[in-house]
Amino acid sequence: TSSGKMGYALAEAARDRGAQVVLVTGPTNLPDPVGVEIRKIKTAIQMKAAVSDAVQGADLLVAAAAVSDYRPRHEEAKKIKKAGRESLTVELERNPDILAEVNGSFLKVGFAAETEDLIKNATKKLKEKNLVLVAANDVTQPKSGFAVDTNRVTLINASGKIEELPLMTKLEVAHIIYDRIVPLLKAGTEVAHRPQSGTPSVRLMRARVTAGDFGHVGGGIFAYLQEPSRVLDINETMGRVKEILKENGLYTQNISSFCYQL
Ligand code: CTP
Repeated sequence: TSSGKMGYALAEAARDRGAQVVLVTGPTNLPDPVGVEIRKIKTAIQMKAAVSDAVQGADLLVAAAAVSDYRPRHEEAKKIKKAGRESLTVELERNPDILAEVNGSFLKVGFAAETEDLIKNATKKLKEKNLVLVAANDVTQPKSGFAVDTNRVTLINASGKIEELPLMTKLEVAHIIYDRIVPLLKAGTEVAHRPQSGTPSVRLMRARVTAGDFGHVGGGIFAYLQEPSRVLDINETMGRVKEILKENGLYTQNISSFCYQL
């Protein structure tokens, strides 16, 4: 569990930039931010349902909740009496990994709370959860992480670029994250407005990464070329995506079938 401060700061920063924001939150002591739609939940399972619902039509999902990885397998209807018990074993089962399991045509940003091997562990989360950016947090540092207003994070993007940020307020961290993400969101809107008859969808090309940035989504490699000056049609876009992938040694045979599936 965390204080919720980072999540609230992310919601407020996005609101101040004009975004329509849904904040899904567990119990906190923080006041409800104005101008943000708030969905209050208590368990990881409820959070997953609320997040899955909130991402419908969304451009971006940012996950900052320190979700408990396990929950007790059984709930006791009555108080557990201590008489005659010197120790107690509670059986736990895995909670869903919300950020990893909620996918769609939106970008995902996550946090990584680490106590060792910061970059390595955070990069693993970035890849496994299909993120475009991860904010890695060394939670052993006193002014960073849980229950404080400040945070010191290292940003890692899908191309492996590492940016160490100094200690700053959580609101400042939130704004820097959006500074890095907004160009990625803009990159896609150029093509998003161009429905093509006869092709399944051009949504793939919406809101992905800028030229030279690569990541993994839905099990396949994706790439997006930013050409703000004009709208590329689906075939041109696919052609350029393939070229870029080839130039970077990332091209595989199933790229087109993967792209057309989306
Ligand atoms: N997260 C999530 N659902 C979970 C656990 C984590 O959505 N059940 C999200 C967090 O909000 C965060 C990211 O996944 O954005 C990484 O969370 P973290 O607690 O650092 O790591 P885990 O993925 O739980 O891995 P581990 O505990 O093994 O380090």
